[in-house]
Amino acid sequence: MDAPIRVGVIGVGTMGGHHAGNLGYGQVSGATLQAVMDLDGELRAAVARRHGVDLQFDQTRDIIGHPEVDALLVAAPDGLHAKLAIECLEAGKPVFLEKPLATTVPDAERVVELETGIGHRMIQVGFMREFDRAHVEVKAEVDTGHHGRRLLFRNVHRNAHHPDARTIEDVVTNSMVHDIHSARWMMEDEIVEVYGQAVPDAGQDPGTAQLCLLQVRFRNGALGLLEFNTKAGYGYEVDVEISCEDGVITSHTVGTPVVRTRETLRQAIAPEYTGRFGTAYQDELVAWAASLEAEKPTGPSAWDGYMAMVVVEACIESVKTGQPISIPEFEIPSLYR
Ligand SMILES: NC(=O)c1ccc[n+]([C@@H]2O[C@H](COP(=O)([O-])OP(=O)(O)OC[C@H]3O[C@@H](n4cnc5c(N)ncnc54)[C@H](O)[C@@H]3O)[C@@H](O)[C@H]2O)c1
Repeated sequence: MDAPIRVGVIGVGTMGGHHAGNLGYGQVSGATLQAVMDLDGELRAAVARRHGVDLQFDQTRDIIGHPEVDALLVAAPDGLHAKLAIECLEAGKPVFLEKPLATTVPDAERVVELETGIGHRMIQVGFMREFDRAHVEVKAEVDTGHHGRRLLFRNVHRNAHHPDARTIEDVVTNSMVHDIHSARWMMEDEIVEVYGQAVPDAGQDPGTAQLCLLQVRFRNGALGLLEFNTKAGYGYEVDVEISCEDGVITSHTVGTPVVRTRETLRQAIAPEYTGRFGTAYQDELVAWAASLEAEKPTGPSAWDGYMAMVVVEACIESVKTGQPISIPEFEIPSLYR
């Protein structure tokens, strides 16, 4: 077997720390944690110490350019993703990029243009639901074709708590981008029209969203309904349902025992996303490492990241204007077909 791919992680906060843990604890066959970079020196040192990593950096160019770093994993804040992806590609290094690909459509377009110019895929985007068993099983059932055409995609995405009121831009770009990707991926079609509405946080600016509801229409006429709640209170939950001509397929992710006691019936729910998607976060890195080794890209592409951003921007515009927004059809570059 070849030497493991030496990964440098940029941004070792909550998500980057989780990914670094998977790499550093040997949970990702074919890859190893080689270097870390974060502006927060204490955090950086703590992660490096925990995993016995010698290479620590406070500049992105130093980790990206280091000769003993083969590939990068970017989990820095959203606004840096496009810039860092471009720097990795210009250095000739593949990158696992947390979602979203970018925070604006023009930035996402720049990344796609650079990658298509290079002529082979170098980016996998962290839409980890493609590696979540519950999602994969729902899609596989629909893909059998036994239930006929897909008619409706429904997605609930509920966070337990959030300390602050979130703007509608942040809610859609940072969180609902996952749901938008799930919709495109599971319905195997592009979204051509969106209509969004939001309930602002109590007592906060109308530009905030505690709850957001997006209605979408796909090119083939099917519909979608995407619900996101920033503070549902009870726990963290993501589930999907696809209605077909002959059958409805629903994910069922609360896998803990049902407890009947003292005139109640209860079931535990994951408190947050690392509990719910822990296996998917590991599996997406395993697939990434295997794809680098085999030189056969897999998983969500930069094009998926770009199309998700196109839909994100239309949804934000719809919520703000109160109008449905049409999305033009795009020709998919041959690299991503
Ligand atoms: N796929 C998922 O389900 C999922 C879940 C959570 C977060 N995320 C994504 O992961 C990314 C990080 O989110 P988080 O929740 O871990 O945030 P976080 O704030 O916990 O961590 C971000 C880290 O980036 C560091 N940082 C800031 N500026 C930097 C720079 N210029 N260069 C390098 N590091 C820098 C910060 O010091 C911090 O340690 C975000 O893009 C977020 O959207 C994805």
